[in-house]
Amino acid sequence: MSPEVVNAANVLELRGLRVTFGSGRHEVSVVHGVDLNVARGEIVGVVGESGSGKTLTAMAATDLLPSGARRDATTWAFDGTDLLGADHKGRAVALGGKLGVVFQDPMSSLNPARRVGTQLSDTSRFWGRRSRSEAHGDAVDRLRRVRIAAPERRVDDYPHEFSGGMRQRVMIAMGLMVTPALIVADEPTTALDVTVQADVMALLRELNEEEGTAVLLVSHNIALVAEVCHRVVVMYAGRIVEELAASDLAIGARHPYTRALIGSVPTLDADLSQPLPAIGGSPPDPANLPVGCAFADRCPLVTDRCRAERPELVDGVACWEVS
Ligand SMILES: Nc1ncnc2c1ncn2[C@@H]1O[C@H](COP(=O)(O)OP(=O)(O)O)[C@@H](O)[C@H]1O
Ligand code: SF4
Ligand SMILES: [Mg+2]
Repeated sequence: MSPEVVNAANVLELRGLRVTFGSGRHEVSVVHGVDLNVARGEIVGVVGESGSGKTLTAMAATDLLPSGARRDATTWAFDGTDLLGADHKGRAVALGGKLGVVFQDPMSSLNPARRVGTQLSDTSRFWGRRSRSEAHGDAVDRLRRVRIAAPERRVDDYPHEFSGGMRQRVMIAMGLMVTPALIVADEPTTALDVTVQADVMALLRELNEEEGTAVLLVSHNIALVAEVCHRVVVMYAGRIVEELAASDLAIGARHPYTRALIGSVPTLDADLSQPLPAIGGSPPDPANLPVGCAFADRCPLVTDRCRAERPELVDGVACWEVS
């Protein structure tokens, strides 16, 4: 199948994304036909409980899926380049230097045997074509930007000499070594204390406002996403169930799942004229999804139709009762 026409206004364009593990009888799909665009200069949040498919969607978008995971899509384009038709090397060239990624678990991404500054500089030398001394200066600058104290000295330290929170910030610095068109950050502040978390979010906002860098922010924290993002995509059981402007979250959310997520955060002002049930139960097993709406077992509005037929995303919401 030939790819659909790429919209140049989008830095990332994904259509019909599926992520599957195993094969034959053991095949399990965990992302089921996700359409996700990030426009240039836009901050998009992907939110949902643990296991909803946020990380695998972000990994599929950035060509970082773990081995064993298979990606299918009808469109996958980055910065105007079709990636579906490209081989691994072609994709690396298209993404390298224009994509910053910050995933969880910085220890597995940082080489313990090399100084942090060297690891940062490599990116800048390779993709930014900077000289050794320019790249060293870039590394110090980026460490300063992620609020590492005494960056001139810390640049020579090894990863184990940093605390967990600092390593996470070093990972963010790594994503900023070139000026990316898009930063994909997956739970970038989950391990950090509140002050540092606010600093990191302020940094993402600053980069977005000053450099026009688009951001795809993956988080289970709907309050954080509401504060930082322009647009929010809500995932449940591997599907997008609602998509809306962040400014509409507090009073404009329609999907019962989104409303339950909002209701679980006391600081988000929700429209109290509508019931906001606490979110009981847990998401379904991906290997054993119900035929109808995946949220049915937890939903206060469930009807017989919900159990029999799965609602598609129409006008930003996938729900029989509120669309
Ligand atoms: N390596 C793997 N093998 C099999 N299933 C996996 C693997 N990684 C993740 N999954 C499953 O895929 C689903 C989505 O995972 P993930 O994208 O990590 O969710 P989230 O980031 O929203 O917490 C989960 O049900 C998870 O158990
Ligand atoms: S389709 Fe039905 S079960 Fe699913 S969220 Fe809407 S009302 Fe609830
Ligand atoms: Mg995750």
